[in-house]
Amino acid sequence: MKLLVTGAAGFLGSHLTDRLLAEDHSVVGMDNFLTGSERNLAHLAGHPRFEFRRHNVAEFIPWKGPLDGIFHFASPASPVDYLQLPIQTLKVGSLGTHNCLGLARATGARFFLASTSEVYGDPLVHPQPESYWGNVNPIGVRGVYDEAKRFAEAITMAYHRFHGLETRIVRIFNTYGPRMRPHDGRVVSNFIVQALQGEPITIYGDGSQTRSFCYVSDLIDGIYRLFRSERSEPLNVGNPGEFTVGELAELVRGMTGSNSQLQYRPLPQDDPRVRKPDITAARALLGWEPVVPLREGLVETIDYFRKVLGG
Ligand SMILES: NC(=O)c1ccc[n+]([C@@H]2O[C@H](COP(=O)([O-])OP(=O)(O)OC[C@H]3O[C@@H](n4cnc5c(N)ncnc54)[C@H](O)[C@@H]3O)[C@@H](O)[C@H]2O)c1
Repeated sequence: MKLLVTGAAGFLGSHLTDRLLAEDHSVVGMDNFLTGSERNLAHLAGHPRFEFRRHNVAEFIPWKGPLDGIFHFASPASPVDYLQLPIQTLKVGSLGTHNCLGLARATGARFFLASTSEVYGDPLVHPQPESYWGNVNPIGVRGVYDEAKRFAEAITMAYHRFHGLETRIVRIFNTYGPRMRPHDGRVVSNFIVQALQGEPITIYGDGSQTRSFCYVSDLIDGIYRLFRSERSEPLNVGNPGEFTVGELAELVRGMTGSNSQLQYRPLPQDDPRVRKPDITAARALLGWEPVVPLREGLVETIDYFRKVLGG
């Protein structure tokens, strides 16, 4: 198949591109390097089935020739990024999604949206099944990301229902692994970088808020299976193992052999108290569940950051 991946120079987009190439597809990667990096695609230079195009997908996407699938992954994704890039985040989630849907319609491609567990906001139902509508503050500082993704889901379902477009929507829960940026402000990268550099490990709030962490290879496998499935309604893909942020800090400190102190800071606005996917549907539909335990995934991720910070 000929496939387009937007956000291909990002953390997940680059891993997805690797997987699609390994499955013998041809891939066009598109990115404007807003939060991504050429380094994430450097290993694909000269690959006969990979082509890169630098483009802002919030603008019209010129295209010639056939296309079988579009994976729309372009979007700032960490709180540090989308708080600094509020308008770009809203534009890529709305105009960018609209452009990709238009291209999918024009070429007959299947459209795949990278949505997020943030559509559930600060959830009042725990764990979160796909049927939960969420508890989002639309005008809070995080609203730029949450509402862009909620709009992206809405317009995707509208293209599916109104135009009969083949669409898939994945709600991704916190994912970690190599190629995250050292200073992207996500909890796993933050803790590892602080621990490796002997800096205080900063915990927002008292550390009792929970998160679930999915290793990147598990996530990409779920995404590929979903793309090939018949499901058009949103599907949760993530790891249901639930840890408090304090537990994660202790684990990282132990695994890196760091002497870093734990430092407590005020909880940011609208920070979710709990987060854990209900993956009953993914298990039943895709025969998928995560297989990489947190400790194992952290070994790979810590190794990666050691190299990045050392080099
Ligand atoms: N990593 C996670 O845990 C997670 C969780 C939920 C959802 N997601 C979603 O997965 C997708 C990828 O996230 P990521 O973690 O790889 O983030 P990332 O920041 O590493 O990658 C996003 C990529 O999109 C590119 N981009 C942004 N705006 C663009 C535009 N207008 N035109 C072209 N390219 C643009 C960036 O340059 C970057 O390379 C995002 O849509 C995000 O919302 C990620």
